[in-house]
Amino acid sequence: MKTTANAATETAAREAAIEVNDVTHVYVNTKGAYPALAGIDLRIKTGEFVSLIGPSGCGKTTILSLISGLLSPVQGEVRVMGEPVTKPTPQVGYMLQQDYLFPWRTIEDNVMLGLELLDRKNDESVRSVRQLLEEMGLGAFRHATPQQLSGGMRQRAALVRTLAAEPGILLLDEPFSALDYQTKLQLEDLIVSTLKAKGKTAVLVTHDISEAIAMSDRIIVLQPRPGRLLAEVEVPEPIRSALPLEAREKAGFHELFRSLWQMFEQMERKEEGHDDA
Ligand SMILES: Nc1ncnc2c1ncn2[C@@H]1O[C@H](COP(=O)(O)OP(=O)(O)OP(=O)(O)O)[C@@H](O)[C@H]1O
Ligand SMILES: [Mg+2]
Repeated sequence: MKTTANAATETAAREAAIEVNDVTHVYVNTKGAYPALAGIDLRIKTGEFVSLIGPSGCGKTTILSLISGLLSPVQGEVRVMGEPVTKPTPQVGYMLQQDYLFPWRTIEDNVMLGLELLDRKNDESVRSVRQLLEEMGLGAFRHATPQQLSGGMRQRAALVRTLAAEPGILLLDEPFSALDYQTKLQLEDLIVSTLKAKGKTAVLVTHDISEAIAMSDRIIVLQPRPGRLLAEVEVPEPIRSALPLEAREKAGFHELFRSLWQMFEQMERKEEGHDDA
């Protein structure tokens, strides 16, 4: 019996790519202490695509920073692939709202940067990153500089740079918010199909409810002051198995949008003091 129980625990650990166990975080600076997160519990399975949504200041970016190892929680524990997180590792890729491409480097030199820093640049890795550039439609722009590219192309280059180090986990902090609507929809499809094909685990932070429904397997709603979990929603089939653009047409999409929208409205009312709940 004991062996079975141990095996079950080990399987559970393997399946959870990310575990956030009862995490509380407080930012401290010379002006005071700012509670950002309280008692957060999350478990994200390998290969799962999860979105974090919630009003500004509810701690979404803080959660990503804790998973990436850029921050350490004041209380509680974060694990990635079963190991406690103590510092940033190449296992976790972090893609931000701004692309942070270096203007003086070509696109190819920008996307190779991580490999150079990790001392992993060799014939094979260069070949595979060039292949990724092709897949992202940037093959012809290898020698261009970032200024010569559109916003959507720059975000695709940033994605290639993040994927170059072959992280198992991708953290995406509002990667589409600076893009026009059409580019954003195209990039959503490209990101979901690429990450699913490569079996990556992803956590997306977004303000956009329909983007969260269209892209994710599961949505986690956070409430602010301090950040806590409010709700967790599994995105139903056939929405989750469709690519984001097509997912928006599926039965159940609008109902799910409305119920998440209502949660946001209730949070707003509570913030304004019109609700005693
Ligand atoms: N360096 C910091 N010092 C003090 N407080 C901070 C710091 N960074 C974040 N906070 C506070 O912690 C809380 C959570 O911030 P966080 O940036 O994680 O929220 P968010 O959900 O990502 O917000 P947004 O949607 O605006 O990006 C906010 O109240 C914020 O003001
Ligand atoms: Mg944020």
